Amino acid sequence: MCGIVGIVGDYDARNYLINGLKSLEYRGYDSAGISVMSGKEIMTYRVVGRVNLLETKIPSLINVNLGIGHTRWATHGEPSFNNCHPHKSNHGLFTIVHNGVIENFHEIKNELIQKGYTFYSETDTEVIANVLEDEYGSTNDVLSAINGCLKRLHGSLAIAIIFKNFNDKLFFAKRKSPLLIGVGETTHYLASDALPMIKYAKKFIDLTDNQYGFISKNEVKIFQDGIKQRAKYTTRNAELLNTDLNGFPHYMIKEIEEIPSCISRLVDNYVNNGSYCFNKEMIETLRKSKCISFIACGTSYHASLIGKNYLESIGKTSNVYIASEWAYFPKFLDENEVFILVSQSGETADVITCLKILNQTHTHPSITITNTKGSTLERDATYSALLYAGVEIAVASTKAYNAQVALLYLLKSAIINDTNAPFKLLDTNNLLTDIIKRKESFKEIAEKIKNAHHAFFLGRGLDYCVALEGSLKLKEISYIHSEAFPGGELKHGPIALIEENTPVFGFITNKRISQAMRGNFSEITARKGTIYSFVTKENAIDNDTFVIENYDSELIVLATVMITQYLAYYAALLRGNDIDKPRNLAKSVTVE
Ligand code: F6R
Repeated sequence: MCGIVGIVGDYDARNYLINGLKSLEYRGYDSAGISVMSGKEIMTYRVVGRVNLLETKIPSLINVNLGIGHTRWATHGEPSFNNCHPHKSNHGLFTIVHNGVIENFHEIKNELIQKGYTFYSETDTEVIANVLEDEYGSTNDVLSAINGCLKRLHGSLAIAIIFKNFNDKLFFAKRKSPLLIGVGETTHYLASDALPMIKYAKKFIDLTDNQYGFISKNEVKIFQDGIKQRAKYTTRNAELLNTDLNGFPHYMIKEIEEIPSCISRLVDNYVNNGSYCFNKEMIETLRKSKCISFIACGTSYHASLIGKNYLESIGKTSNVYIASEWAYFPKFLDENEVFILVSQSGETADVITCLKILNQTHTHPSITITNTKGSTLERDATYSALLYAGVEIAVASTKAYNAQVALLYLLKSAIINDTNAPFKLLDTNNLLTDIIKRKESFKEIAEKIKNAHHAFFLGRGLDYCVALEGSLKLKEISYIHSEAFPGGELKHGPIALIEENTPVFGFITNKRISQAMRGNFSEITARKGTIYSFVTKENAIDNDTFVIENYDSELIVLATVMITQYLAYYAALLRGNDIDKPRNLAKSVTVE
C-alpha cells in the first residue's frame, strides 16, 4: 500500500525520489506525487497513474536536495488529482505525504472547518497537514506541533513533512504504518521500507510507534512524547534486496524459479553441521506447548494451514485463524497456547492488531515468521524467524509462500529433533527443478482455460490446502473467478456451478484419497466439466494431465503449489494482464 520516500542532504533529490518511488511500486498504488524544496520555494508534482508518468512532469534539470514522494493506494476518496499526495496545509506551512488511516478524521475535519480551515481533497492526509498547522499556531515549534498532532489523531500514520521555513530539515512521525530512516554519508533518507535506500544508506533506523523528529544533512533527531530517543541502528543484506529481473520478463516468474535457491538458503540459515540453529528458547517454548495456533491473511494463511497439518502430525493441537477475524473475536484455547504469526511483509495491519492483543495478555508467547527484517511484526513478537527468501516484488506471493511452508516444516522437525528432515527438504529441490523444466505444459493448459469465466480447484488433505492457494493465485492475477473445495464437499453444493467446459483443477498426491478424488472427477465429467488432473505416479491413470514423481507426502506441496503458480502466471500472461501489479491489490496491506 502507500509508499513514502524522503531525502535531505547532498544527494540529488529528484533522482532518489523518482527511483525510490519506482522501487516501491510493488506495494500497489494508483497515483503518485512529489514535493521538492528549492531555496524557499516548494514545488509539487502529482499524477493519477504510474511513476513513469510523474517523471515526465518533473523538469529534469531541477537541482534540489530536499524532498518527499508518495505512491497512493486509495482509501479515503477515489484516485484523483486532488486526492494525490503531497497535501499542504491551508497557509502552506506544512507539505506532507502519509501512509495509514486516521480513524477520527471526520471529527477533526469538522473541528478544523469550524475554525475556518478549507479542504480541497477527500483525504485524511489533508486533515493531518492542517492539524499540524493548527498545533503550530499555538506552539510556534514544529516538533511540538508534531507531538500535539500525534496526540489528537487516532489511527495509523507514517508521515514525511516539509516545513516551509526550513530548507535543511525534513520532519517525520510514525505510528503503526512502517517508516525507516536511511543513514548516508552527507544525506539522510526516509522510506516505507529499505528497498529505495539500499543503494545509498550504510545503516538504517527502524522507527517505532509514536516516534517523531527530523533528519538533516548531518543529523538525525528522534523524540517520543517530547523526550529525546537514542537511535538504534540496523543493517540490511543488499543481496536479499536485489531487484534485478535477471532477464526474466516478470518478477512473478523469476520469483517462482527462485524457489529452489530459497529452500537451500533456509536450510543454510537454520541448520548447521546437521543441528538446528533456531533460537533455542523459541524451540523449547514450542516443545512445551500442547497448542500452537497460527494467525495470518491470504497466502500466508494458506501456508499456515499446511503448518497446522505439520504440527498435528507431531501430536500438537493447532488452529489457523484469519487475522482480521481473530482481531475482533480473539480465542484462547489453552493457557500455554503459543501463536505463530505468518506474514511475508511483516507489516500487515490485521496481523499487527492481533499481535498487540497477544502482547497485552503477557502470557501467550508469539513467533513471527516473516520475510522482512526490521518489520513491525518481526520486532514486536516474542520470537521471530526470517524467511531469507529475498525481496518479493510481484504482488502475488510465490517464493515467500514456499519459504513459509519450508520453514514451518523445519520448525516442526526441530521440535522433534528430526535431523533427517533438512536433507529431505533439500532433496525436494530436484522435484522443483523438474517442474521448472516442464513449465511449457502449464502454458498449454493456460491456453485452454484463458477465456474461462470460472474455474475450480479440488483436493483433499494437504492437496486441499494447495487448492486454496492455487485458486487465490489464479483469481488475483488472471481475474478469472475461482474457488477451491475439498473434493468431498463438491456434491454438497458447488457441483451446481459445473457447466460444459468449466475447468476444474484436481490434485491427487496421496494414495489414501485417490479413489475418492477419482469419484469426484467422474462427477465433474458427467456434467461436462473439464478436469485437469495433477497426480503422483503411483496414483496416475491414462489421460491424467500432469504426472509428478512420487514424493514425501508432506513436502510434495512445495511442488504442486508451484504448478498452480505457473498456471496463474501463464493465464494472466495470455490474458494480457499486468502480472506483477494486478488491479486493486497491494503487496503490503498496511491498513485494516
Ligand atoms: C496473495 C498475497 C496476499 C498476502 C496477504 C498477507 O498473493 O500475497 O494474500 O498473502 O495480503 O500478506 P502478508 O503475508 O504480507 O501478511
